[in-house]
Amino acid sequence: MASSTLENQAADGWTPSSWTTKPIKQDVAYDDKEGLKNALVKLQRLPPLVTPQEIVNLKNSLRNVALGKAFVLQGGDCAELFDYCNQEMIEAKIKLILQMSLILIWGANKPVVRIARIAGQFAKPRSSTTEVINGVTMPSFRGDNINGFDPNPDSRTPDPSRLVSAYFHSSATLNYIRAALSSGIADLHSPLDWGLGHVITPQIKEKYEQIVSRVTDSLRFMRTVGLDTARGIETVDVYTSHEGLMLEYEQSLTRLCRDPPNAVPKPSHATSNTTTSQTTPPSSSSSHYATSSHFLWIGDRTRQLTGAHVEFFRGLANPVGIKIGPTMEPTELVDLLNVVNPDKEIGKVTLISRYGASKIASHLPAHIKAVQESGHLPVWQCDPMHGNTRSTPSGVKTRRFTDILSELRQALEIHRAQGSFMGGMHLELTGEAVTECVGGAAGLTEDGLGERYTTFCDPRLNEKQALELAFLVAGFYRDRAAEEGDVNAM
Ligand code: PEP
Ligand code: CO
Repeated sequence: MASSTLENQAADGWTPSSWTTKPIKQDVAYDDKEGLKNALVKLQRLPPLVTPQEIVNLKNSLRNVALGKAFVLQGGDCAELFDYCNQEMIEAKIKLILQMSLILIWGANKPVVRIARIAGQFAKPRSSTTEVINGVTMPSFRGDNINGFDPNPDSRTPDPSRLVSAYFHSSATLNYIRAALSSGIADLHSPLDWGLGHVITPQIKEKYEQIVSRVTDSLRFMRTVGLDTARGIETVDVYTSHEGLMLEYEQSLTRLCRDPPNAVPKPSHATSNTTTSQTTPPSSSSSHYATSSHFLWIGDRTRQLTGAHVEFFRGLANPVGIKIGPTMEPTELVDLLNVVNPDKEIGKVTLISRYGASKIASHLPAHIKAVQESGHLPVWQCDPMHGNTRSTPSGVKTRRFTDILSELRQALEIHRAQGSFMGGMHLELTGEAVTECVGGAAGLTEDGLGERYTTFCDPRLNEKQALELAFLVAGFYRDRAAEEGDVNAM
């Protein structure tokens, strides 16, 4: 696509590069300016990684989540590495998300929208731009698409060719996800083949097998009555997502595209301010789609109302997330929604709340109230990870399973009490048997953290903890449904 098309001036001054005129947080300073230019030119020529049709499918599903008709499960690594681009690790993560979603469908009695933090979750915001290792000051590790983890100033220098590498690693990961899904990795006829890791406790295994046996029974019945012929049982949708932190990268992969037929027609001012456009049929409208992944979010550290990230995000047709923590004021939250989603499209914005178990009760109620009064209907998603990070006495970053569960339970109850929906959860997890978060049925203690602590950023739930959490959250829904006398849930 010609860059002149990309730079088409929208009515309200937004262009894919208008963010460059705003103050930016968490910026990366490249010494190699020529290298950066070449990398971005290359990225602009490469094909989109995902299509508007897929993006709009996700947006339509998230609309259902906002309306309380579906649940969204989002999860994956805190920092994805190029090294994770291998069959085993991709499969482990996708299977875990599939298993968790099956448990949640059973629990919440709703369809589950699956979004992985994968195929692009490389860039990380950091609290400090530099760190001292063995007495040497060097730039902090900012993620595989920016610099190397090796603790020496050379590897830590931002290298623009890593942006192109990020594209190709995203592309290879996504290709394998697509291939695995279309080859039946998610086939509901054999959810036991999705394979539970050997570390699963017998109780979890038994519960999981019970759900699978109910699903298998239903499928057998459908086959008997001849309803098992439609496509849909052999595969599911898994969408990709990452934090939209590196705006140079995102801009290069943002394309002006014709809106697909499944797009909800938008008000005229979104494409043009001329009166003729008001009668333009929706099929001939076009929008800017970030095509690096289906869903992008703004981090808690880059969500300033007048900053570069909010400016970039407000022009995208994708569904987008905004992380909100304890420092967010209710009025600021509404201002932000008005900027990012002026048309109040239902489910276009996912508010990813991450206050911490001890703070959620004093922040979420006012946030929900302000949003309800504003007339916006976002997806409310609980991220029970980022407000619950703590250090052990010996300085290891960890999270307690009980805090994670507590924040989720409180989120559910608070939403319910205010006539709102907790539409989903956002987790940092991995299909590997890591030892990074403490607690869970296997009783991982702080002393055991050193065993397989492999994260390059925040501590993740391991497979066992993630499945256990899915069962517990499913249990909250089933208990409540039973209290309310919903016979389907018994
Ligand atoms: C993250 O999701 O990894 C992250 C950095 O989160 P937050 O912006 O909520 O701190
Ligand atoms: Co994180």
